[in-house]
Amino acid sequence: MVFLAFFAVSYYNDFIEGKGLGITMKLWAGRFEKEAAKTTNDFNSSIATDGRMFREDIAGSVAHAAMLGKQGVILPEDCEAILAGLGSVLEDLEGGGLAIDPDAEDIHTFIEAELTARIGEAGKRLHTGRSRNDQVATDLRLYLRSACAELRRLLMEFEEVLRRKGEEYPAAILPGYTHLQRAQPILFSAHLLAYREMLLRDIGRLDDAARRMNRSPLGSGALAGTGYPIDRAYTAEQLGFDGYCVSTLDGVSDRDFCIELAAALSLVMVHLSRLSEELILWCSWEFRFVELDDAYTTGSSIMPQKKNPDLAELIRGKSGRVFGDLMGLLTVMKGLPLAYNKDMQEDKDAIFDAFDTVKLCLGAAIPMLQTMRCLPENMRKAAAGGFINATDCADYLVGKGLAFRDAYKVVGNLVAQCIREGHTLESLPLEGYQAVCDLFAGDVYDFVSLERCVERRSPGLRLGGEN
Ligand code: ARG
Repeated sequence: MVFLAFFAVSYYNDFIEGKGLGITMKLWAGRFEKEAAKTTNDFNSSIATDGRMFREDIAGSVAHAAMLGKQGVILPEDCEAILAGLGSVLEDLEGGGLAIDPDAEDIHTFIEAELTARIGEAGKRLHTGRSRNDQVATDLRLYLRSACAELRRLLMEFEEVLRRKGEEYPAAILPGYTHLQRAQPILFSAHLLAYREMLLRDIGRLDDAARRMNRSPLGSGALAGTGYPIDRAYTAEQLGFDGYCVSTLDGVSDRDFCIELAAALSLVMVHLSRLSEELILWCSWEFRFVELDDAYTTGSSIMPQKKNPDLAELIRGKSGRVFGDLMGLLTVMKGLPLAYNKDMQEDKDAIFDAFDTVKLCLGAAIPMLQTMRCLPENMRKAAAGGFINATDCADYLVGKGLAFRDAYKVVGNLVAQCIREGHTLESLPLEGYQAVCDLFAGDVYDFVSLERCVERRSPGLRLGGEN
């Protein structure tokens, strides 16, 4: 143990100090005769993207340093100095007393350099038995774990908004559509329930991907683990992981979790986009089923009468970004040999953009739906006009003993007659009904009323199958 601790210290000192380098210089400068070109540094740098993971990077370093101390790989006083130093860096980054250097290569390098600038020698011992490859994989999983929790809350909130909106208009009936043709009458709340179910599946998918992601790559090293007597279970536990990645090669090179999450987020966007499309239709003058609040719509620069559903349109449009992020991640990963390759640095831009976009869209969708006013009279008018109760009319005849196929034919004739005479099933006189089929009686009007139609069926108004 003592030998290993000594080895760790001298190895790292040689690496950095033996060449007379300050840690602000390139970590690998000893191997090179020339400085990197500015183009190389700029091109290589990921700080603009990964700077947001500073909390996770520090948390990972705290766990790693504590483990090195516990295992005797570094001396207790060095461990203490590192932990205190990391604490002060975190405090200053959070408090605004320390700005992330935009010229740093990445967040890992920046924090290690800052730590070493503050505590000296001990700071150079932090990276013992660790590589940026397992470091970045750990940071990213930690960051995305929090992002999933945040997004989960937003999705739950949105589901709740939709439930409440349905409850605000418990009796509102609108036409249900297939092929965008009026099909059968449904309750407005039943329509919204469909979206609530989608959101619950989205939450399930996020949870599922987050659970699979929750393994610690820390200790995988560059790819082949490390010769130091590290304790991977300990760091995994410290960081709230359910265990660690058994294969060190997979630990550093797996980005399935990014792809799974991007796929789950793509489906969230499919759902938000479909709902947006309906709102755009519904607030058009052709439908007028809903009215979006002024605060969540925009006007036109030239047409004074316009009130545009820009937010809904943008949500629909932004779905493309998230699908693009998913496609980008798949494409980055598909040809990579094991283990880490720099291509993988592209993962963060894509998955962060996907999370940011979905969060942004939910942030707009939630108040837009919360403040949306429904116009149930218009919904009802549309539902009453399109023979949307024709199936129920056929069911009425089935109730009187006719086979459904025959009843279907009778009602087909009836509808044709109504169209010829300018009637609806509600307004057609009883003689008109009886001229087509003598099974019709006065109770048909009640049977085909929109209220009875929606009451009779059970499109599901509650979640969890408890209709
Ligand atoms: N910025 C890098 C990334 O995001 C960190 C890992 C760098 N590792 C390396 N061997 N160059 O992937």
